[in-house]
Amino acid sequence: MASEPTTPEFLYGTAWKEDRTEGLTELAVKMGFRGIDTANQRRHYFEAGVGEGLAAAYRSGIVTREDLFLQTKFTYQRGQDHRLPYDPSARVGVQVAQSLASSLEHLGTEHVESFVLHGPASAHDWTEVDAEAWKAMGAERDAGRTRLLGVSNVSPGQLEQMEASGAELPAFVQNRCFARLGWDREVRLFCKSRKIVYQGFSLLTANPEVVGHPPLEAMAERMNATPAQIVFSFARAIGILPLTGTSDADHMRQDLASFELKLPADVVLALESLSG
Ligand SMILES: NC(=O)c1ccc[n+]([C@@H]2O[C@H](COP(=O)([O-])OP(=O)(O)OC[C@H]3O[C@@H](n4cnc5c(N)ncnc54)[C@H](OP(=O)(O)O)[C@@H]3O)[C@@H](O)[C@H]2O)c1
Repeated sequence: MASEPTTPEFLYGTAWKEDRTEGLTELAVKMGFRGIDTANQRRHYFEAGVGEGLAAAYRSGIVTREDLFLQTKFTYQRGQDHRLPYDPSARVGVQVAQSLASSLEHLGTEHVESFVLHGPASAHDWTEVDAEAWKAMGAERDAGRTRLLGVSNVSPGQLEQMEASGAELPAFVQNRCFARLGWDREVRLFCKSRKIVYQGFSLLTANPEVVGHPPLEAMAERMNATPAQIVFSFARAIGILPLTGTSDADHMRQDLASFELKLPADVVLALESLSG
């Protein structure tokens, strides 16, 4: 059995980049990102463009496939437009297999490091459909086409239902992280107690009240950092694996440099309880 991949410290997100996807993916790798997040959901992601960007990075010798952590997602039909990566009349388990096969082709690889259920079928529950999709995802993992599995856009209740159903728990949860919900505290605590890695997205865009908070701006200035760097550094301090989807080379550099910022414990505590 293949060994578990090393989880990177930052994930570069490839959503909403359309024909800039290839160039920005290559740039992100060039700048130092080693984790790439995408999805086989043409409505928001251009996964084949990600594959082209990776191919360009391999060609230029910046990295090899083994240096990278690639993550993609299976998205139910209701989250897609007409450009489906599977036969919508097939059972969901077949759709999962078709979607991942298409992702591997897009990404020019025989396996990904992580395959994520983009979101449960219902807003409230972990349903039979999810159980079927999840079982099919497990079969893909067992066949070696992904190393690990994840679930996205999931509530504490759904995670509890999933666990109560006896389903295998994910290695990753990927959620939008609202400061006003204690930075998704309930889900983070669930993850922490089960050794699930919590991936947080929209850390900047979902939390303008924090990013533009005058004390945070003052702190950033004192630390010779940007507010975004403080947020990413804080996120890591509370156990979040952050995503950034920046299209800007300077922001890529700043985001990666936020590793070097060490926030004092009292600052971390204050930020954690800032608005939730
Ligand atoms: N699972 C899901 O359902 C889901 C949903 C949404 C997103 N995601 C994933 O998460 C990734 C990130 O998405 P996101 O929602 O967090 O938003 P994002 O795409 O990272 O957008 C961040 C915004 O903040 C701006 N920004 C300003 N300063 C920045 C800095 N120093 N560093 C980074 N950004 C800065 C960016 O502008 P500039 O481009 O000018 O820097 C951009 O407009 C996506 O690409 C996708 O892979 C997953």
